[in-house]
Amino acid sequence: MTEIAWQQKDLLSIADLSAAEIQLVLDTASSFREVSARPVKKVPTLRGKTVINLFFEPSTRTRSSFEIAEKRLSADSLNFSASSSGLVKGESLVDTALNLQAMAPDLIVIRHGHPGVPRMLAERVSAGVINAGDGAWGHPTQALLDAFTIREEKGKLEGLKVAMVGDIAHSRVVRSNIELLNTMGAEVTVAGPRTMMPVAVETLGVRAVYSLEEAIRGADVVMMLRVQLERHKKVMFPSVREYFQLFGLTRERLRSAKRDAIVMHPGPMNRGVEIASDVADGSRSVILEQVANGVAVRMAVLYLLSGARQEAGA
Ligand code: CP
Repeated sequence: MTEIAWQQKDLLSIADLSAAEIQLVLDTASSFREVSARPVKKVPTLRGKTVINLFFEPSTRTRSSFEIAEKRLSADSLNFSASSSGLVKGESLVDTALNLQAMAPDLIVIRHGHPGVPRMLAERVSAGVINAGDGAWGHPTQALLDAFTIREEKGKLEGLKVAMVGDIAHSRVVRSNIELLNTMGAEVTVAGPRTMMPVAVETLGVRAVYSLEEAIRGADVVMMLRVQLERHKKVMFPSVREYFQLFGLTRERLRSAKRDAIVMHPGPMNRGVEIASDVADGSRSVILEQVANGVAVRMAVLYLLSGARQEAGA
């Protein structure tokens, strides 16, 4: 395992992490992965620690994998429901956070529709804060689980060619993945319709192209992204049929990637829009491995941020 001390109180952005810290999370996740394969999937590592899960946006994978990770580590979890809280009576988010802090949680996991909310919270509470997705800004645990999956499949991150295709402008997954993959020495190409490409995207340290074939030619990793209709303020493409014709990943198109290229998708996936069903379910797809690895990665993040590593003298 990487020999560095974990110093971070919060996990808000991949940009806050060094390559050695990313490596430490991935190595720690490797050691937690076998817990999910045991007949009794539980270790006492976070016994006596309290985690609050605050989800202000829908989630299937992130929310359930944090909850499962917390249970497997024996933490006490509270799932906060915004719709039945004082927020609907006009209480501010800051006051809500301060009241939750008064109950002495060790960690708060938060997903919110507005960028920067997890950082604002982290500045006001002494609990460690984990960003589970903020607007179109960042999704650091998704990038970590994607990196873990790539490393498992390819044995490394450095020097790999990674293509990300789809709604680049509205994807928090893309932003966090670009930060992580650049830090770890991978080569990133992004592709999508011009209407879904951020202005000056190259300044993020990526190559931008406007054709799926060009993006995935010679790629080791092809990561497809959902069109984030809920974040669009106007119509960005003429029809789903045309989008699939231009940017949908089919078996035929996948032939231009490397023969052993893997196919990834962070979910939720829209079959027949950004990816054909036979590719999503095919032998090159590691989409469900990403989900499985998400539990181990979130166990690692909870463990490192809870201070358990220092307490255990690790
Ligand atoms: N990948 C991801 O964040 O999925 P959910 O929205 O289901 O959590």
